Amino acid sequence: MIMKLFQFIRTHVAVKLGLLLLSVFLLVMLALGNILYSLFLTFYLSHTTEELVQRAHSHAAVLSDHFDRLTIDHVVRMEQGSLFMVVILDEKGEVLGSSDTITPLHRPYLKEAAQRNLQEEYALEQDWRTKPFLVSRSAILGDGKEIGTVVLFSPTAPIREAIGILQGMLLGIGGITVIIVTGILFILSRMVVRPLLEMKKVTGEIAKGRYQSRILVTGEDEVSQLAASINHMSKEIQFYQKQRNEFLADIGHELRTPLTYLKGYSEIVLQTQLSKEEQKEYIGIIHEQSKRLQRLVQDLFELARMEQGDFSFRKERLSLEEVITNVLTFVESSMDEKGIALEYQSPKTKPIVEGDPQRLEQLFINILENARRYTPRNGIIEVRYGGDVDHITVQIRDSGPGIPKDELPFIMERLYRVEKSRSLETGGTGLGLAICKKIVEMHKGEIWVESIEGKGTTFFVRLPLINWV
Ligand SMILES: Nc1ncnc2c1ncn2[C@@H]1O[C@H](COP(=O)(O)OP(=O)(O)OP(=O)(O)O)[C@@H](O)[C@H]1O
Ligand SMILES: [Mg+2]
Repeated sequence: MIMKLFQFIRTHVAVKLGLLLLSVFLLVMLALGNILYSLFLTFYLSHTTEELVQRAHSHAAVLSDHFDRLTIDHVVRMEQGSLFMVVILDEKGEVLGSSDTITPLHRPYLKEAAQRNLQEEYALEQDWRTKPFLVSRSAILGDGKEIGTVVLFSPTAPIREAIGILQGMLLGIGGITVIIVTGILFILSRMVVRPLLEMKKVTGEIAKGRYQSRILVTGEDEVSQLAASINHMSKEIQFYQKQRNEFLADIGHELRTPLTYLKGYSEIVLQTQLSKEEQKEYIGIIHEQSKRLQRLVQDLFELARMEQGDFSFRKERLSLEEVITNVLTFVESSMDEKGIALEYQSPKTKPIVEGDPQRLEQLFINILENARRYTPRNGIIEVRYGGDVDHITVQIRDSGPGIPKDELPFIMERLYRVEKSRSLETGGTGLGLAICKKIVEMHKGEIWVESIEGKGTTFFVRLPLINWV
């Protein structure tokens, strides 16, 4: 039961806030009430006691002047209308007069008051809580001797009554506080907790995969901002989810073609009687397709790792020209084979950049490989440098077919190819430029492309430069 209550408090912000508020209020109320209570008590009691003593004293003073029947009756009559009760004793302690009936409750005080060795004025009883009255005595003096005593009683019931009223008032205020705090709690829970609950519900939905769930944002406070952030996040997730699904579909498609070839040709080799040459031809196709598959998987893996930020990235100072000339010697022979002329303008000074030499090589191989692949026989490929003090731009231009204007924005997306049907002939998977883009991003550079259909394509790679030497 108690555990359940704790669990309830722990899991509800509104209850926590409310309890905190309530305890602060109650603490303040308690302190204030206590102060008020003791102040009231001190003033009220000291006032009553003082009056009691004073009155007894003034009666005693009057009687000290005229200690006779007439004065005694006068004093007694004076107190008959008041709350007090006066009793006048002679020197032996016998009652000479009283303003009210003397009950057994009064007796012990009268006996005590008659004793001589007391002070002249003395409060005999001050306990207002348990005793029925406060009592004061004052001596009546004649010729320097005590000739009688005035005993004054004041009932304590009115004091207790007043204190009771005060306590009731304080309790009432406390009660009202509790009601107010409960009201605040209710408003708070509407203002703060309700939207939070709504957010909890929606994020739960999102976690379950229903990305189209949105929170209604009303206001501009922190809670509304949080709601807006969650909406934004869920939109983002929805987008990525869609992209992922499309990507998976694309990959499935990419894998299907080579696998169909592999299955088909291997079945032929296994099931039919073939000549040695035919066998060799078919196994050659199988080999080509498995190589293609291997490359596809490798590229995908590479790209995924780069996207996750989980890759080794060396950072060293290097001459970009060296990287490019390395790549050029690598692709030269395949260019020659296709009769493509390679024009290279070496820079006047060496561009020094900071980066990973292997990744940069891969970047330029991908671009040059594309240029070679998509440029028809006897075309031209040109590599030049440009830039300024802190950037270098490498241009790679080809005299190929160019890229249609409306396809240009997409060619660096993974698996995107302009000519989808040509894939088998050219063997591309559409990952090369996606990898290029990642590599350039890793180097805090930019890559873009300009192309005129029928004329050719130019790729630009702009990288931060350390200096020209
Ligand atoms: N120099 C170019 N001239 C004409 N089209 C190009 C050129 N470079 C790229 N493209 C087009 O952009 C597409 C995407 O290029 P990308 O390098 O990403 O993929 P790919 O070459 O098809 O395959 P991969 O490089 O993964 O083997 C290509 O399929 C091609 O249609
Ligand atoms: Mg390519």
